[in-house]
Amino acid sequence: MRERLVVGNWKMHTNLADASILATRIRNGMHQVPSEVTTVVCPPTVWLYPVAEILEHSADNLELGAQNLWPGKDGRFTGEVAASMLAQMCKFAIIGHSERRVHQHEDNSLVAKKVSAALRYNIRPILCVGEFRRLVPDRHGRFRPRRGDSASDIFAQLRDALAGLTHDEIKQVVIAYEPVWAIGARLAAELSYTESIIAELRLELDNYAGAKISRDVTMLYGGSVSAQNASRLAHGEGVDGVLVGGASLNANDFLAIASAFHMRNARG
Ligand code: PGA
Repeated sequence: MRERLVVGNWKMHTNLADASILATRIRNGMHQVPSEVTTVVCPPTVWLYPVAEILEHSADNLELGAQNLWPGKDGRFTGEVAASMLAQMCKFAIIGHSERRVHQHEDNSLVAKKVSAALRYNIRPILCVGEFRRLVPDRHGRFRPRRGDSASDIFAQLRDALAGLTHDEIKQVVIAYEPVWAIGARLAAELSYTESIIAELRLELDNYAGAKISRDVTMLYGGSVSAQNASRLAHGEGVDGVLVGGASLNANDFLAIASAFHMRNARG
């Protein structure tokens, strides 16, 4: 059985007081979340340290994650934060989020460098892949990007990000499938669509790394996850967890989402 993982991406929200309150509420509410569900909060970089202090004596299944990292060692990179620095506080880092692909023009090759830098410092990358426009089934019923829409080629996003990694490293990577059109949309992708795409991503991974490796890789869904739809998603075939944006800013909602991912709901 694969791990269950629920990640909160706070994005560029909260001030110091809000971040401290949110982290404290989540820490104090962790008794609601079954111990088999690893729960990760990813505050803005500037609040990592205060949040790390708040989480210091928290439940073992509550971890801290970064939203980004610089793919090199420390050095002359004004304004950036190296993986080696984040590694002192964070067990996870979100990499290749679609907002960064759009606003910071991150391409597959930069994302690949970030994934491997994270692994070098024992940070588990949460690699985001997602299509900008819905995929459509080809004549074999396999979902593919529309002709010419290379930005929506989630299979290339996956392959390119993992290029050069060892099989052991691939097992450490968490894949977050996030259809970009469902992010912040108040309506998640239909579960059957998500299940099909996650199955296809796993097939791609089978071909790339072998089924023995691929079956251990954790795959999340992200895009308008809420306390209302979490239980449905938790029953989704192959959905090992979720990456939550907006709803992760409310401690009660986030804890309810994490609780929904208990093992009894696991499928696939
Ligand atoms: P959302 O964001 O849950 O607010 O849709 C998800 C994400 O961007 O990771």
